[in-house]
Amino acid sequence: MSSISPIPGTEPWPLRLAHEADVSALEALIPLSVRALQSPYYSQAQIEAALGPIFGVDRQLIRDGTYFIAEQDGVIIGCGGWSKRRALYGGDSSREHEDELLDPQRDAARVRAFFVHPDWARRGIGRSIMAACEQAIRDSGFRTVDIVATLAGEPLYAFFGYAVVERYDIAMASDMRLPVVKMNKRI
Ligand SMILES: CC(C)(COP(=O)(O)OP(=O)(O)OC[C@H]1O[C@@H](n2cnc3c(N)ncnc32)[C@H](O)[C@@H]1OP(=O)(O)O)[C@@H](O)C(=O)NCCC(=O)NCCS
Repeated sequence: MSSISPIPGTEPWPLRLAHEADVSALEALIPLSVRALQSPYYSQAQIEAALGPIFGVDRQLIRDGTYFIAEQDGVIIGCGGWSKRRALYGGDSSREHEDELLDPQRDAARVRAFFVHPDWARRGIGRSIMAACEQAIRDSGFRTVDIVATLAGEPLYAFFGYAVVERYDIAMASDMRLPVVKMNKRI
């Protein structure tokens, strides 16, 4: 079993699980994060088309107790989680029914929906949430993890040893497409 060693001089951020009461703050954070941190990778039109259906709050993760939050002075500055359900990406607005549960013996867990406030990027929040997700995934009996990463997220997951499986485009409204990368790791 591989794990991430602590990085000298960096303390993990304290995290807590998200609650339903956090949804409105998360709905404010996600567009701020996406519009700033994805701008080197996607056009403004791609970002606006993806906000909502692809980048949005997934309450399933909150209900399952698999969504983490980092705060500073009581303000949410980062979020991200993992999933034991089938969906690889997408907010509430893109699904009508709860996704089917995965089998830890047979299926890969998912890492889902990481968003950091642009003022707090590159300070280890994504890394802290990722470490918490991998620990929880292992504790739940899964042995592999799949991620459909944005191009902005790819370096974080590569840092954690995820390998590129496939690059493809997600079709969006108005014939727009969003290039993403499917990544995988045995944990
Ligand atoms: C992806 C994201 C969550 C990373 O969060 P973060 O808190 O800035 O990441 P960390 O500071 O923990 O970075 C950990 C490591 O990942 C890598 N990394 C993260 N962002 C990177 C970037 N923009 N460029 C290069 N490497 C990066 C680095 O190795 C980094 O370590 P270092 O800072 O010591 O070099 C953040 O950029 C984000 O919210 N992006 C917009 C939303 C998004 O696309 N989310 C991904 C969905 S799949």
